[in-house]
Amino acid sequence: MSTPPLIEAHNLAVRYPNGELALHNVSFTINSPSFMAIIGPNGSGKSTLVKAALGLIKPAQGSIKVLGYDSVKQVSKIRKLVRYVPQRDRIELAVPMKVKDIVLMGRLLKKLPPRFASSRDTEIAKEALRQVNMESLWNHPFPELSGGQRQRVLVARALAGEGSILVLDEPLAGTDVESQDLIVDALGRYHRENDVSIIMITHDLNPIHTMVQDVLLLKNTVIGIGEPCSIMEPELIKKVYGPTAKIVEHSGHRYCLTRDSGFDRHD
Ligand SMILES: Nc1ncnc2c1ncn2[C@@H]1O[C@H](COP(=O)(O)OP(=O)(O)O)[C@@H](O)[C@H]1O
Ligand SMILES: [Mg+2]
Repeated sequence: MSTPPLIEAHNLAVRYPNGELALHNVSFTINSPSFMAIIGPNGSGKSTLVKAALGLIKPAQGSIKVLGYDSVKQVSKIRKLVRYVPQRDRIELAVPMKVKDIVLMGRLLKKLPPRFASSRDTEIAKEALRQVNMESLWNHPFPELSGGQRQRVLVARALAGEGSILVLDEPLAGTDVESQDLIVDALGRYHRENDVSIIMITHDLNPIHTMVQDVLLLKNTVIGIGEPCSIMEPELIKKVYGPTAKIVEHSGHRYCLTRDSGFDRHD
């Protein structure tokens, strides 16, 4: 039996209770396994698409499936498969959690209570931190970290978890270049070495375009889908980012220059 697509949408529309139509006529298929990127400017519906896929928002119309499971009718199946790093994590910084507590959550949250970390859980959590070069801060208070370091810990929490799909919503936003490189490298390595698909939202494709297989370009509907080079076309990019957007080539790679990202890759 062939594997069902990683993610598949048919005529999907999502409307927020205030009437805002965040997505309309969204139809696409991405095969499994993949390291894929969802790109598009702010407000283009990237987070909304992922939330619909995870069953956090109900479609107004159409359907969306993850590995063949329907995001409305089979949410619990999808939750078991997916490790999700939301755009803004709700970790309360007033609570004096340590780095290890955050990463171990990735091991413990899907266990039944009482939840205790085994020595294997600890080993896996430490290895995940090593992947993002944070292992020396195991006992460090999480709230004292820089934005980029916190993001690395949240990525490590996802790496430490289980489930065949990792979904990360803007993991590079608000991070320094060193953290961006560490996160991108860790995700690429993890995808290569494990049977795991990665769905990464970013409003800037540049840091990851050499690593991803599939790109979905959104502006409230699908503007483009394909391998990174086919998306990095001036016509497509201008359609989404406006007439000043440019594609430049350097050392055999295409880079996208937009007012949204420029070369400073932050929000
Ligand atoms: N909770 C919400 N209530 C109402 N409108 C929302 C909500 N979240 C997002 N939107 C709107 O939906 C559109 C898409 O938002 P979003 O999916 O967050 O875009 P992106 O992640 O690409 O920046 C935007 O116009 C945004 O204002
Ligand atoms: Mg978003």
